[in-house]
Amino acid sequence: MCRSIHAPLLLVLMCLMNGSNFAYDPFESSLSFEPEPHVDINVLFVSFYNGMAPNNPNVNLFYNNQKDGVYLSPGKGFSKLDNLNGRKSVVMYWNGNCASFFAYDPSAEGNHQKIYWLIKEDGIYHSWDNSSWQKRKSWTFNRC
Ligand SMILES: *[C@@H]1O[C@H](CO)[C@@H](O)[C@H](O)[C@H]1NC(C)=O
Repeated sequence: MCRSIHAPLLLVLMCLMNGSNFAYDPFESSLSFEPEPHVDINVLFVSFYNGMAPNNPNVNLFYNNQKDGVYLSPGKGFSKLDNLNGRKSVVMYWNGNCASFFAYDPSAEGNHQKIYWLIKEDGIYHSWDNSSWQKRKSWTFNRC
């Protein structure tokens, strides 16, 4: 990650931040990353898991403008293999609510190729390891 000819100053900054916990700012999307040289399988894995309590209605999920939605009942997951070229959108409907965001945004995910989303009653959570979660999105009632 520490070799690029594009923006040496930015890179020095990134390398400095690399040692500490680099908090991603969703509004700063101008950073661009390059995959690690040793990563030779350029496949994106995106996972969605409905972690709501069992009595909840299904979540209807539309990945990247696909016409057919996927119904996720509580406790069910759905995953997708995709290319790493460009952003992948997702729209979810649940109980009269909607959430719309980028399930994958190359400028936000660094060299991570596995992206996990956890769907809860209070919003949608993001993870790179399916274990430590950060809330990224709240539901909005009746609109996206
Ligand atoms: C993520 O973790 C949950 C709970 O441990 C597990 O059920 C699920 O299979 C995991 N998802 C993936 C894609 O590994």
